[in-house]
Amino acid sequence: MAPSALACFTKSAEEVVSHKGLFEAPSHERLWIQQWAFKKVPSIVSDVRKSMTLDIAYAVLADNVPGDCVETGAYTGGTSILLMKALHRWDAGGSRLLWAADSFEGLPAPTEQDSGADSHVGSKNKLSPSEETFINNLKEWEAHGPTRLRILRGWFSETLPTAPIEQISYLRLDRDIYASAMDSLRALYHMVSVGGYVYVDDYGSFDGCRRAIDEFRAEHGITDPLVYQYLPEDGNNEAVAWRKTK
Ligand SMILES: C[S@@+](CC[C@H](N)C(=O)[O-])C[C@H]1O[C@@H](n2cnc3c(N)ncnc32)[C@H](O)[C@@H]1O
Repeated sequence: MAPSALACFTKSAEEVVSHKGLFEAPSHERLWIQQWAFKKVPSIVSDVRKSMTLDIAYAVLADNVPGDCVETGAYTGGTSILLMKALHRWDAGGSRLLWAADSFEGLPAPTEQDSGADSHVGSKNKLSPSEETFINNLKEWEAHGPTRLRILRGWFSETLPTAPIEQISYLRLDRDIYASAMDSLRALYHMVSVGGYVYVDDYGSFDGCRRAIDEFRAEHGITDPLVYQYLPEDGNNEAVAWRKTK
C-alpha cells in the first residue's frame, strides 16, 4: 500500500462514501468493507466512520504491520464487532488480539480543556452501557472470541498504562474528551508500530478531543499528515487518522 493513497480522503461525497482507491483494497474486499460499514451493529458511530475504521484495519492487516488492535471507547461494542470481523477475515490463523477498553461507567467529567465541546458530552455516567451488554452484543454478532478479545475495564488512566500490550498495529481512539484522548495516547502511542495507524473519532466534533490530539502531536514532534474523513452530506469533519512513519 502506498502511503500516498491516503490522499484519497476528500470532501467529494462519492469518494468519501466509497473510499475509492483508498488503501488499494481489491474490489471484493471493498465490497465486504462497505457491506459491514452499513450494517446496523450496536454503535453510535456513523457509517462513514465505520467504513474508515475497516479501511484502516484492512491496511494494517493486509500489510502485516506487527501488533494488536486497540480500541479505547468500546461502548456497546459496535466498532469492536467490526474490528473482530476484520481480524477473523484478514488475520485468519494469526494471533493478533483486540484490546477493548472502557470504563463501562461512561465518560469522566470534562475539564476546562473541553470548553466549547457540545453540551451533551463529557459527564460521568453518560454513554454507560454495562460490560455485560458489550459482551452480549459481540456474542449476538458472532464476534466474541475469547482467544482474540481482551477487555480492559476501568478508567483509561488506570487500565492503559499497565495493560500487558506489547505492540500495536492499529490504535483506534473513540472517547470524545480531552483527558480520555490524552490518557490513551500517553499510555499507548509509543507501542504503535512504524507503519501502524492511529484513528481518532470525534476530532472534528469535540474541541477537547482535537486539542488533545494537536497538543500530543506537537509535543512529540509528530508530523505524519492527518487524513481527514468528512461527512458527505454537509462536509463536516468526522474523524482523522495518521500513519506512523517513525
Ligand atoms: C463514543 S463512545 C464509543 C463508541 C463505540 N466505539 C461505538 O462503536 O459506538 C465512548 C466510550 O468511551 C468510554 N470512555 C470515555 N472516556 C473514558 C475514560 N477516560 N476511561 C474509560 N472509558 C472511557 C465511555 O464509557 C464510552 O463507552
